[in-house]
Amino acid sequence: MAMITADPTDVPQVASFAFTPEYMAKVNELIANYPPGRQASAVIGVLDLAQRQQGWLPRVAMNEVARILDMAPIRVYEIATFYTMFQLKPKGRYLLQVCTTTPCWLRGSEAVMKACLEAADGTTFSVQEVECLGGCVNAPVVQINDDFYEDLDEASMKKVLDAFRRGEVPRPGPQVDRQTSAPIGGPTTLKGE
Ligand code: FES
Repeated sequence: MAMITADPTDVPQVASFAFTPEYMAKVNELIANYPPGRQASAVIGVLDLAQRQQGWLPRVAMNEVARILDMAPIRVYEIATFYTMFQLKPKGRYLLQVCTTTPCWLRGSEAVMKACLEAADGTTFSVQEVECLGGCVNAPVVQINDDFYEDLDEASMKKVLDAFRRGEVPRPGPQVDRQTSAPIGGPTTLKGE
């Protein structure tokens, strides 16, 4: 499905899940950050590792995380279903998480969403509508896998997607002439003059 929704009816069944030795080493590293008996504090990181290994989070993976961390499975489901960083269904190679909260909406997220929906085929690109990504100063913002693309409009969004299609990794961050969150065109204060 191109647009990822919370509809639970189209979740494929996965028979089993186990961390590979490489991922299990990372899981153990995370757990070691917490005092004995507090291993549940590593749950978000361990879920993230499960998702990176599998590509998404089937229920069997959440159950395995619960088993490793000695948590009730429902506690793990509660966390996995709360945060949009966790995908409970398979997704395309690039997940376009489009922020449509007020600052992004006021700055044109509808046009950005339109470009994303047109590109979404469920294989290369999947789309998910998300709440504030915390980058409002450079709205509108789309998170693509682990990176933020900012100051977007329909044309620049299409340009970014075309680059991914060609196998390139376009430069994350502002897609206008702006250094991080400085004013467009360059800093106007504290210039040392
Ligand atoms: S409202 Fe979109 S990043 Fe905050």
